[in-house]
Amino acid sequence: MIRMDGKEVSAAVKQQIADRVKCMGIKPGLAVIIVGDDPASRIYVNNKKKACEFCGFLSEEYSLAGDTSEQELLELIRQLNDREDIHGILCQLPLPKHIDEKAVISCISPEKDVDAFNDVNVGKIMIGNYSFLPCTPAGVMEMLDYYNIDITGKNAVVIGRSNIVGKPMAMLLLHSNATVTVCHSRTVGLKEICRRADIIVACIGKEKFVTADMVKDGAVVIDVGINRMENGKICGDVDYENVAPKTSYITPVPGGVGPMTIATLMKNTLNACIEQSKAKNK
Ligand code: GUN
Repeated sequence: MIRMDGKEVSAAVKQQIADRVKCMGIKPGLAVIIVGDDPASRIYVNNKKKACEFCGFLSEEYSLAGDTSEQELLELIRQLNDREDIHGILCQLPLPKHIDEKAVISCISPEKDVDAFNDVNVGKIMIGNYSFLPCTPAGVMEMLDYYNIDITGKNAVVIGRSNIVGKPMAMLLLHSNATVTVCHSRTVGLKEICRRADIIVACIGKEKFVTADMVKDGAVVIDVGINRMENGKICGDVDYENVAPKTSYITPVPGGVGPMTIATLMKNTLNACIEQSKAKNK
């Protein structure tokens, strides 16, 4: 069994980006918006800020009060859309209930949408003609590539069907020629389906959901879950201790997919900067 080290792979990706930025005549700029005081979101946003500093990006954080109106948030996004020094805009989800997430996501201009959540970017991913890849699924693909894991012809099972992870994950695996099955809370025979998988991506948000009896010998298991247990510790969607011995490769939580999500965000911001500079100089 090989433990896939997301910290190591993401450090390599971020170092490449930092080296590239040093030679560019322009600083990529990322604006991160957080509304309210969700503790998990706070941690993610702090990590994004640290990664920006490492890569030599301009990073701006907008911490808005939990009772900020949708109009105020949309107005801030419009201002950031018009800024030439900001190439990427990210609004940390989830948002407070009184704000319509869809309206916020579609307000971010597609060329600055470094999360790739906007309708335009989601559509481009579907047809395989993308400018940005969604951060977590692309981070998973980067990690599979780093460990030379062959995907073509493999049975891949994605457990979870969210717009942020499950659906785009399935699409990226499909683009890499896997035979993909997407399972979810209403799937009948989930155990049997998982047992046939060469690659399992668990993104269902339930602690230790994937147990050893669901995994065939030698499978690759990717754990996207970040769940907080009653004792306060973080655990994934996979029962790591019992599943790991059966696998050929497995990601830990923490230290697996999480850092890869941030590395992809940095990549997307760099690409956004390059594309916007090209468009400006045309
Ligand atoms: N909340 C959980 N994951 C993400 C993410 O990748 N991007 C944003 N904006 N919010 C999130």
